[in-house]
Amino acid sequence: MTDSAPGSSPPDDGAERAERVEHRWATVAVAVLVLFVAMATFAALHLAAMPQSRVETADPITLHLDGEFIDSNLGSALEPDGSVTVRGIGQQYSFTPSCMLVPNGMPITFRATSADVVHGFLITGTNINLMLVPGYVSSLNARFETPGERLMPCHEFCGMGHEGMWGRIKVVDKAAFARMAADRRRLSCVE
Ligand code: CUA
Repeated sequence: MTDSAPGSSPPDDGAERAERVEHRWATVAVAVLVLFVAMATFAALHLAAMPQSRVETADPITLHLDGEFIDSNLGSALEPDGSVTVRGIGQQYSFTPSCMLVPNGMPITFRATSADVVHGFLITGTNINLMLVPGYVSSLNARFETPGERLMPCHEFCGMGHEGMWGRIKVVDKAAFARMAADRRRLSCVE
């Protein structure tokens, strides 16, 4: 405390206290930073968490012309191992196919990309949630138990028509799906 004339307020008291509080918060901020770096280091070294090892690309310009996402290859395919692969495209402002057909009780792989801007691929009532990024293939494994129909709203703002960008997914009994797959190479429920 500095000497001061009686009646006047002590000049440095408030400043000292502010400095103490500031030091305390700076220490907390540095400690939080150190904790996060330690967590990231632990995840990288001990849990071997790494960036995605396999990035698959798909040129949005030639998407419809050749390769995996050509029109005739979109929809659901029954694979020789009994699993089902569903291929789709998001574009302003629809999904192709606009109604995807899948069997229940079977492993399903979704593979999708975008032909223009970023779109969202979300199936209501499930935890299926992907971003469709132009240039890249988004892939996800899933399984549906109960037959029925679910909505697939685009959940990334993609332009003026965003809120009208919806698709559907229809889960059918796997025996019925197998019968349909015997007749057609690619399936969808677009009428
Ligand atoms: Cu596509 Cu929003």
